[in-house]
Amino acid sequence: MFALKKTEIVQKILGERVLPTDASGEAYAPANIALCKYWGKRDPELNLPVNGSLSISLQERGTRVSMAPSERDTLLINDELLAADDPKHVRLFDFIDLFRVDSAPALRVDTQSSIPIAAGLASSASAFAAVVMALDRAGGWNLFARELSILARMGSGSASRSIYHGFVEWHPGVLENGMDCFAESLYLQWPELRVGLLALNTDTKKVGSREGMNRTVRESVLYQCWPDTVSRDLAEIRTAVQERDFTRLGAAAESNACSMHATMLGCRPPLLYWLPETVETLHRVWGLRNDGVSAYATMDAGPNVKVLFLEREESALREAFPLLDVIQPFASVEV
Ligand code: DP6
Repeated sequence: MFALKKTEIVQKILGERVLPTDASGEAYAPANIALCKYWGKRDPELNLPVNGSLSISLQERGTRVSMAPSERDTLLINDELLAADDPKHVRLFDFIDLFRVDSAPALRVDTQSSIPIAAGLASSASAFAAVVMALDRAGGWNLFARELSILARMGSGSASRSIYHGFVEWHPGVLENGMDCFAESLYLQWPELRVGLLALNTDTKKVGSREGMNRTVRESVLYQCWPDTVSRDLAEIRTAVQERDFTRLGAAAESNACSMHATMLGCRPPLLYWLPETVETLHRVWGLRNDGVSAYATMDAGPNVKVLFLEREESALREAFPLLDVIQPFASVEV
């Protein structure tokens, strides 16, 4: 049904470059939170999205990956060895196989995550971005950032944005081969911006983001409204970021997240990631706003809430949510 395979895209980008037998490399990539969400694919093989999206990277919260030749393919996540039939092991090495030709080595891949797993944010985005960057170093390929973004996107769509720090926009592109579908940095600083992570429930979710998104496109009549909603929200969020207009940014990001969750409710049976704690938190954020505290919420394919606010509101937010994990996306820290 879909014309192009991932291997053809890898071949197009790498050309004659291969992974040497002594390949070893290390890289770090930040996690990211979408302010305007990616939800739905125009091509599930290459992870080409229906719509553009815009995110903020979480600076020192992300994944460090190191890889080195080994007797057999091995994956360690936070020092824990995964079984060869673990879905994470299979997904990662299926991806790495795209880059290995006959003589390429088996690899030991060590991933260390600084995203609190408890925050339910251990998304695959930073992991796939860091894997692609580590492969680039291991192979000495020196690829351009947008090529890294295209490659990371084939591991997980949102990984295309984790190649960069700060604000990032992922262009949906129109080409069948997705060569115009990559993320780019907006090169904008906003040092006062804060992202608060609220871990409300950390049980493994029953429906992953990939399946949830595919089901929504297939089953939900409400999905028809999504592309137009995104066109409006994406333009507004981009402008709000450029003008450092926090109220506009927060309102558009919160509305975009709620609209995405609304499309899921149109599935049969309905898909709802929110739990009572999610709804209660939303009401508390809205209550804070009524009291003059400028804070907005966003939620991804899970029950946990991320709160957007500015530095001046930090003490009010910490008081309202004592367990809030506050990230400064523009702090200069070692990663
Ligand atoms: C709700 O990037 O996990 O977090 O491309 O199938 O790997 P795949 O999906 P994934 O979806 C992320 C969905 C989201 C919104 C977003 O990050 O933009």
